[in-house]
Amino acid sequence: MISVEVKLASNSYPVYLGSGLLAADELLKRHLGGGKILIVSNDIVAPLYLDQVRASLGKRDIETHIIPDGECFKTVETWSGIIDKLVGMQARRDANIIALGGGIVGDIAGFAAACYMRGIRFLQIPTTLLAQVDASVGGKTAVNHDKGKNLVGAFHQPAAVIIDSSTLASLPEREFNAGLAEVVKYGAINDASFFSWLEVNAGAIKRRQEDTVNHLIHESVKNKSEIVSQDEKESGIRALLNFGHSFGHALEAESNYSRFLHGEAVAIGMVTAARLSEIRELCEAGTAQRLASLLTTLGLPVRHAADIRISGLTRALALDKKAVVSGLRLVLLNAIGRAVIDNQSSEHDILAAMEQSVASPD
Ligand SMILES: NC(=O)c1ccc[n+]([C@@H]2O[C@H](COP(=O)([O-])OP(=O)(O)OC[C@H]3O[C@@H](n4cnc5c(N)ncnc54)[C@H](O)[C@@H]3O)[C@@H](O)[C@H]2O)c1
Repeated sequence: MISVEVKLASNSYPVYLGSGLLAADELLKRHLGGGKILIVSNDIVAPLYLDQVRASLGKRDIETHIIPDGECFKTVETWSGIIDKLVGMQARRDANIIALGGGIVGDIAGFAAACYMRGIRFLQIPTTLLAQVDASVGGKTAVNHDKGKNLVGAFHQPAAVIIDSSTLASLPEREFNAGLAEVVKYGAINDASFFSWLEVNAGAIKRRQEDTVNHLIHESVKNKSEIVSQDEKESGIRALLNFGHSFGHALEAESNYSRFLHGEAVAIGMVTAARLSEIRELCEAGTAQRLASLLTTLGLPVRHAADIRISGLTRALALDKKAVVSGLRLVLLNAIGRAVIDNQSSEHDILAAMEQSVASPD
């Protein structure tokens, strides 16, 4: 088992990583408080892994709350169902929530933990690659609103994150690949040697070779933890984690969140941002192609079809909550492994980069 400490000014917490950690009863018990326990999961993950977690908790007073699967259920109503459950079980301030599932379960359960009695203890057991390398670490919790994703939320750090990489065995390939987009992002913005390692090990990653997958989760968590530790509430450097996300969110919004998984949209968005960086001469020619090659090898898209109109994307881009009025604030690259926050791109250059991300007709 490996562990990474997420060091924050207010508190610190461990992220444990290994195969078979759902059965590591001592680990779960160590990080739970004395009060009641509510496990929140969904109707896909619970049949697969809930019994193992329950068994590890032994004779504790445990309740479960199963939410429906899907981004359309990441709502205030679902959040409210968790609060009702806590009230119904007469949970007090010493109660614990365990989130067992992907990023959606983690975000909603975390937001319930942030709000119930102004904050109760919360453990993350992420079961998708995206949640293991990204969503479970850093304390962002949220639900969606009709007018936008993650519009209602809070920062609430978990007491611990327990990553059992063997849960990835049941994850569909498309979901696994989507998680890899965020993995590549850490290399692109912060860690050139990790990026090179990903290039060399792409074959073993695709085969989900155990040591290789554990290594890439470990490196990703270290990268995220390093950035979050410096800027817990995203007032500066943490914004680098949004590399590819402005263009990616525009793609997701313009296709009504139905065509791309988040990681797929981010993959196209990262390459668009790298192309813009080249157009602006912020990085050397060939950087975007190197990024696109790795993402393609890992099974991710790097262009989108022409029926998604650039005019719609620019409208969505300007509405993205990361945009500021004085000019579009984007994360660009100075090199692989070195990102920069920049608001100096002209509309002409942004459009040119976006046009290069449209696939040519067959
Ligand atoms: N809080 C953050 O910092 C942060 C960061 C990135 C993304 N997010 C949020 O995370 C969400 C996306 O997370 P996600 O990609 O994990 O999606 P998800 O939670 O929808 O999981 C993807 C799919 O895989 C299923 N699944 C989960 N674990 C499985 C397993 N082990 N085996 C088989 N199937 C499994 C889920 O039921 C779902 O159908 C979005 O709502 C996004 O906004 C949050």
